[in-house]
Parts: sequence; C-alpha cells; structure tokens
Amino acid sequence: MAREFTSVGVVGLGTMGAGIVEVFARNGIDVVAVEISDAALDRGRANLTGSTDRAVARGKLTEADRDALLARVTFAVGLDALHSVDLVIEAVPEHLDLKQRLFAELDRVCKPEAILATNTSSLSVTEISVATARPNQVVGIHFFNPAPVMKLVEVVRTVVTSADVVADVEALCGRLGKVDVTISDRAGFIANALLFGYLNHAVDMFESRYATREDIDAAMNLGCGLPMGPLALMDLIGLDTAYEILDTMYRRGGRDRRHAPVPLLKQMVTAGLLGRKSGRGFYTYERPGSPKVVPDEQTPTTTEPAVSDAAVTKIGIVGSGTMATGIIEVFANAGYEVVSVTRGAEQSAKVFEAVQTSLNKGVVRGRLSEADRDAALGRINWSATLDHLADVDLVVEAVVEELSVKKALFASLDEICKPGVVLATTTSSLPVIEVAMATQRPADVVGLHFFNPAPAMPLVEIVRTIRTSAETIATAQAVSATLGKTGVVCGDRSGFIVNALLFPYLNDAVRMLEASYSTTDDIDHAMKLGCGYPMGPFELLDVVGLDVALAIQRELYLELREPGFAPAPLLEHLVTAGYLGRKTRRGFRDHTRR
Ligand SMILES: NC(=O)c1ccc[n+]([C@@H]2O[C@H](COP(=O)([O-])OP(=O)(O)OC[C@H]3O[C@@H](n4cnc5c(N)ncnc54)[C@H](O)[C@@H]3O)[C@@H](O)[C@H]2O)c1
Repeated sequence: MAREFTSVGVVGLGTMGAGIVEVFARNGIDVVAVEISDAALDRGRANLTGSTDRAVARGKLTEADRDALLARVTFAVGLDALHSVDLVIEAVPEHLDLKQRLFAELDRVCKPEAILATNTSSLSVTEISVATARPNQVVGIHFFNPAPVMKLVEVVRTVVTSADVVADVEALCGRLGKVDVTISDRAGFIANALLFGYLNHAVDMFESRYATREDIDAAMNLGCGLPMGPLALMDLIGLDTAYEILDTMYRRGGRDRRHAPVPLLKQMVTAGLLGRKSGRGFYTYERPGSPKVVPDEQTPTTTEPAVSDAAVTKIGIVGSGTMATGIIEVFANAGYEVVSVTRGAEQSAKVFEAVQTSLNKGVVRGRLSEADRDAALGRINWSATLDHLADVDLVVEAVVEELSVKKALFASLDEICKPGVVLATTTSSLPVIEVAMATQRPADVVGLHFFNPAPAMPLVEIVRTIRTSAETIATAQAVSATLGKTGVVCGDRSGFIVNALLFPYLNDAVRMLEASYSTTDDIDHAMKLGCGYPMGPFELLDVVGLDVALAIQRELYLELREPGFAPAPLLEHLVTAGYLGRKTRRGFRDHTRR
C-alpha cells in the first residue's frame, strides 16, 4: 500500500530549504523545519515569511491561506524534532561529508519506515545513502530554485532504492503540483549537467572581460528568451553552492574542464560575495536576500552615448536573403533612408515583396499605420550596384556566409564608400577581423549580428575586433538604440556571446541522449520546467536546424580546441542521414504528422 505523507521534515532553511518548506505547507502537509542554530532558524523563518508575504502582496496567496500555511510549520533547532515525520528532505550545504554525517544521524532519529531524501544538485545520492542502515529508503528529490515557482522535480533513484519508495515519492510530487522526471544517479542529473557548463562559461567570459555582466545577461535573456541571464542566475543560485556543484561535477563527471570552477568564483566566495543571499555577487542587491538590483560601480551610466547617430541617416544594406530582408525592414521602419543593393532586379523585387508582406502584417496586427508602412517602403531605394553606396553613412553587409565573398565585398566597399563610414558585417560565425583587414580602414569595421527574425528579435551583438575604434563602437551602439534594439558589445570570438553559450549546451543535450541517460521528452521538460527555458534543447535544435547547429559547434570546437565542444557523434549522424529538423520534417522528432 502506498505511504501517506502527513508530515515531513526539512533540514536546512537556506535558499532551497525555505522554498521547499513552503511547497509542502502550501499543499496541506505539516512540516517540521529544522536548522543548526537559533540564529540560522531565525534567518530561515525570515526566508519563508519574506517569500509568503511577497506572494500575498502579488495577489498569489490570500492572507488567510498564508496564515494557514505558516501554521502548518513547526520550527526547531536540532534533528530530534524529526522523530515522527514520514519523510525528511535535507537542503544543507553541498558537502558530501556533511550530508553523510547528517544522514547517519537522521537514520538514528527518524522512525524506521521514514524515507530520507536529499536535495543535492551534484553529489552522489548513492554515497549519501550508504551512510544509513536503510539505503533502499534513500532517494534524491531535487527541487529547482525558486522551489515554489519551478514545476520540475528530479527524482533520483540509486541502484538500491526500492521501487515502492520511488513510486510513492513520484505520487507525492504530483500532489505538490510538480512534474517529476525519474533518473539514475549521475553528477548534475539532467538539468544541472546541462546548465552548469554554460554558467561557468559565462563567468569565464565575464572574468576575461569579453563582455560586461549586463551585456552577457542581456544577450541570453533577449537572444534566447531565457528568464534570466547566466550571471543573474548564478547570484540566485548562490556562488558558494554553484562553486560546490561545479567542483563536484568536475570530479564526478569525467574531469571535463568546462566544469572546473572559473578562478573568479572561488575569489568571490572567499570574499563573501555569495550572490543575492549575501546582498552582493555579480550584481549588488538592496540588502541580503533581496531580489532588487541596485546600481554599483560597474553599472553603466545611462546618460546619452558619447557619439550620437545624428550623422548616420542613410544606410546601405547588401544582400537579398532572410537576414538582409529583415534588416532592411528594421532600418526603414526606424526612419532611416535605405539603399538596398542586391545582385539584380529579380532579387530586389523578391526582397521588396517580402518587406511589403511583413509590413502589411504589422498593419493587420495594428502595430503600424498604413501611412507608416507606405513611408517606410518609400524610404527604400533599390539598386543592383554597389556604386550607389558612395554617399551612405553606414553599410550593413548580409550576403552569403563565405569568407572569400565577404572579403571581396569589403574590398569593394573600401573603394566606393566615403571616409569615416561605418562598415558592418552581420556574419554569425566568421572572424570580423578577416573582413576588416580586406579594407584599408579596419578601425571603421564592426560586426552587427542581428537575430532571426530581425524585426522581432530585440538583440544585436556588436562585435569589436582588435582594430575597431571606440567611435565605431559608439556609433553602432547609438544606431542599435535608434532601431529599438539592445546592443551588446563583445569580442571577436567564434559564436560571439549567444551562440558560444547556447550551442555547447545543445550539444551536451545530444550527448546526454546518446548516452541513454534520459529521453528527448524528459530532457526538454527538465530545461523548460526546471530552468524556465522557452523551449527544450531538442525542440530548439529541430527549429534551428541540425546542420546549422553542427556547423556552429564545429566552428567553436575548431577555434577553442575545447574537447568538450567536439560535436556529438549523434548530431553528425542525424545530419548525414538528412534529419535536419522541422525543415526536413524529421530531426530529433518526427514532424510529419504535426
Ligand atoms: N541554490 C540552488 O539554486 C539549489 C537548487 C537545487 C538544489 N540545491 C541544493 O540544495 C542544497 C542546499 O543549497 P542552498 O543553496 O539552499 O544552500 P544555503 O547555503 O542557502 O542553505 C543551507 C542551509 O543549511 C543550514 N545548515 C547547515 N548545516 C546544517 C545542519 N547540520 N543541520 C541543519 N541545517 C544546516 C545552513 O544554516 C543554511 O541555512 C544543496 O545540496 C544544493 O546543492 C541548490
């Protein structure tokens, strides 16, 4: 017969523990909440009341429900209070010896039939379980931060966990309104195994001054639709916890260098910069525990950019593909005069039609008046010769992604364009410095990496080569702002910010599938429900195209020679088989019937 869970114990009321208490108590289960000292208990109680008060303020919980929730919680110092609970879940710091000692103690204190669960993110549940005389009743119940909000729970079964324990815990997750995925005991389980390499890489970008914290976070937030950027997420997780998770994953997960914690992390932890919980991490918060970011010495000044784009009124756009078409629309819509240069009248007619259709959609959806549409179309001049770019103030190149073609084009632009003009390339994978050096004016050359579809995506990566001048960057920033886009500045490395952080994660998901650790559906669920991603990795790969993903991953691997970036063999095989994603109706999933 299935177990009844009428009362549970939670040990450790920090970032995770307090949230876990709230989840149980919200769902009518009595909770014994335990801490190590009176002071820690007070902090834990404050964590819980802070969170429930915010829920009341936001109208998500009535005052009566909050009071009932809090009445279900008994607070205590020491484990003795846990003698009669049906299940204990611990959320103490991520140290194996601490957790083993705690489990040995729980084994002595708790009734024999009680289930003992750990919320560890990366430690071996098996190693924790053998500290008890009941390893078959030990299981991982991995909640996500913030526990009351995130829907996913990873249930970790070891080789000795009883099937009925797993089944009862799964049923309990359902009662808590959570979606569970049950997996075996591997470092990082699903979500953290895919998340932490990415987070560590983002810290590395910040440490090496590749981009600012704001730009790294904005890039992933706006370029991928992630609920928060990686550095803001590190602050939410807690830098000490993140450090321990990375360190454990490095040691348990095959010593993948990408999990070796970036040195800056250790320094920040040592300096007491633990993230939100200490009031300062990558960002500064109003006070410890507060989610509100306040300005500090790294906050960019919000005054007008040093160079305005007043001198930029006429834009040349070269190319006739998807990106060129979108970019023409974006500039014309923002009030710039545009010269579109394609390879011939036929291409120009096609682009004109596509821009018109897209603007018409804007009119139908009420985003644009008919007069504005006509004015935007009227601002575009159509040409098939580069000579018409002699008097433009900025050129955006969006021709085929081939270095020789782009270099030849930039050499021609160098001949034709007036001095001081900014020459921009939209390349997503080629080194911008290569095209810059095809001209006599590399200081004026910059990358302007738009995202597809350009009219809708709010992000532009502004790529600074080692020769790009500060004025050129300032102009690119000012133009991005006029377009209503967020421009993030980064160095000239393969993948810039977004692709360099996104594609290795997608590749890791393919490796996880290849290793039969989990399924496409569970991995997609884990990232959507555990991390709030808009799409799971396999959904996204099928949309992006497996061939595109493979090409980008190869570039990253070639440039950085990072063994962990080597394309997953399964990805290569699917591409070879012609399973490229939605465009061929088959990728990781079969789209023929959808
Ligand atoms: N932070 C996250 O985003 C996250 C997400 C999922 C899982 N986890 C896991 O949850 C666990 C806790 O992490 P956290 O971020 O909440 O840590 P935290 O540092 O915020 O909180 C740990 C709490 O445990 C208490 N504690 C320490 N020793 C204790 C003991 N012997 N008995 C009782 N209480 C004790 C501390 O006083 C503190 O309040 C870790 O295993 C971590 O990997 C963390």
